[in-house]
Amino acid sequence: MSKRLYIQTVGCQMNVLDSELVAADLLRAGYELVDSPRKADTILFNTCSVRQHAEDKIYSALGRLKRIKDRHPQKIVGVLGCMAQKDRQGIFHRAPHVDLVVGPGQLGRLPALLERIAAGEGPLLEVSLDRNAGNRVSVQQSFERHDPLRIAETRPTPYQAMVRIMFGCDKFCTYCVVPSVRGPEQSRPAEEIEAEVRGLADQGCLEVTLLGQTVNSYRDDRGRKLRLADLLLRLDAVEGLRRLKFVTNHPRHVSDELLQAVRDLPKVSPYLHVPAQSGSDRILRRMKRGYTAEAYREMLCRIRETIPEVAITSDFIVGFPGETDEDFDRTIALLREGRFKNSFIFKYSPRPKTKAVELYADDVPDEVKRRRNNELLAIQNAISLRDNQPLVGRSVEILVEGPSKAGRKQPDNGHVVQLGGRTVDDRIVVFDGPPRLAGQILAVEIEKVDAFTLFGRIR
Ligand code: SAH
Ligand code: SF4
Ligand code: F3S
Repeated sequence: MSKRLYIQTVGCQMNVLDSELVAADLLRAGYELVDSPRKADTILFNTCSVRQHAEDKIYSALGRLKRIKDRHPQKIVGVLGCMAQKDRQGIFHRAPHVDLVVGPGQLGRLPALLERIAAGEGPLLEVSLDRNAGNRVSVQQSFERHDPLRIAETRPTPYQAMVRIMFGCDKFCTYCVVPSVRGPEQSRPAEEIEAEVRGLADQGCLEVTLLGQTVNSYRDDRGRKLRLADLLLRLDAVEGLRRLKFVTNHPRHVSDELLQAVRDLPKVSPYLHVPAQSGSDRILRRMKRGYTAEAYREMLCRIRETIPEVAITSDFIVGFPGETDEDFDRTIALLREGRFKNSFIFKYSPRPKTKAVELYADDVPDEVKRRRNNELLAIQNAISLRDNQPLVGRSVEILVEGPSKAGRKQPDNGHVVQLGGRTVDDRIVVFDGPPRLAGQILAVEIEKVDAFTLFGRIR
């Protein structure tokens, strides 16, 4: 059987990492990667359920595949990840041409599962237990951990990598599907993480982003109790590594020790993503976020007092059930005061089996959600622009990622292209230069900015 693999990923960075690890396993099993479903023998979708839109995208991509599968029945179609865990058997009903459904807790079994399908078994379904289907330990064990050896070929760039330090989530924000599709919160042992980061640095990786749904509630309680600040201290010492980031923080676990570690450790980026979600206490309570707007503001002050040069980013949900104009005004006020470098703004999307769906009607009309979304975006864009402006005329240090995604096509001579890179506080910088600069850390002088991008020149 020829083994050409196409894998499409939607969702958060956790999913991007999972796809990388799946691809690495399959390359080791003799597969090669191709860039379209038509060229592939095995077509995998790594899916997200966080909003309806993410699911619709995958179901329509699956629909489009039906004709290809009808003509080439030997092609294997698999659905992986969060939507696999959520919809399970339902995926075969909606898309009968799917051969394989695998939850995020069974990804390590993929090479073997694909072999069974190629041998004529199937369709196959492998998912974890529901969170209420057993005691904590058995549910936890049904989300099998899978962090195999890393290879540079399957990463977006060889000099950047994500490393999982936590799995799952126990917060159960009422709108959110993640705790049910990713399972109970579990932290990886610190020495395992350290070994992985050392291995990456040995491969030439300069920047590591630590991942967890609530990354700052990391805890390794075997022996001496370790928290994220302790882990950062250990990783900061890894030779060859230049930059360390971590996402996503929960406002309730932003400890002074963590902020001091970010301030004092030279490799840790002065950058914190700490979603607020809303500025109204009534809505925050309904969301079960576990803090008030006042507590969030105090946290922002603490962050800025400890790390004056910090860049803070946030997420907001608009149109949560019961959100009035007055609640929304409080969110605007928090967004303005927060002076976030950037905010991701989402329209509330009711998710089946979440508490919010059980308790509250989705009563904010879509048109109002859209208007609030646009209004917040416009305010945030103005803030982001103002935040970038002082950088004009200054020199910033960036890690060059490679040809810029939004960039122009290669010019004729091919020697100079538009390159993209990131500052230590996660700002995107584009500039002209030879492609060989990819993977270097260098200084760029900023000439112009907009709300999202800095435009610069190598000195
Ligand atoms: N663990 C992270 C990210 C979770 S998902 C955290 O706790 O912040 C990323 C973002 O999607 C969330 O921060 C939230 O703003 C948004 N989100 C989650 N569920 C949603 C829903 N049902 N509708 C709209 N946005 C949602
Ligand atoms: Fe979802 Fe809340 Fe957990 Fe984030 S903290 S993953 S929003 S339940
Ligand atoms: Fe989506 Fe799963 Fe991430 S639901 S946001 S891919 S954890």
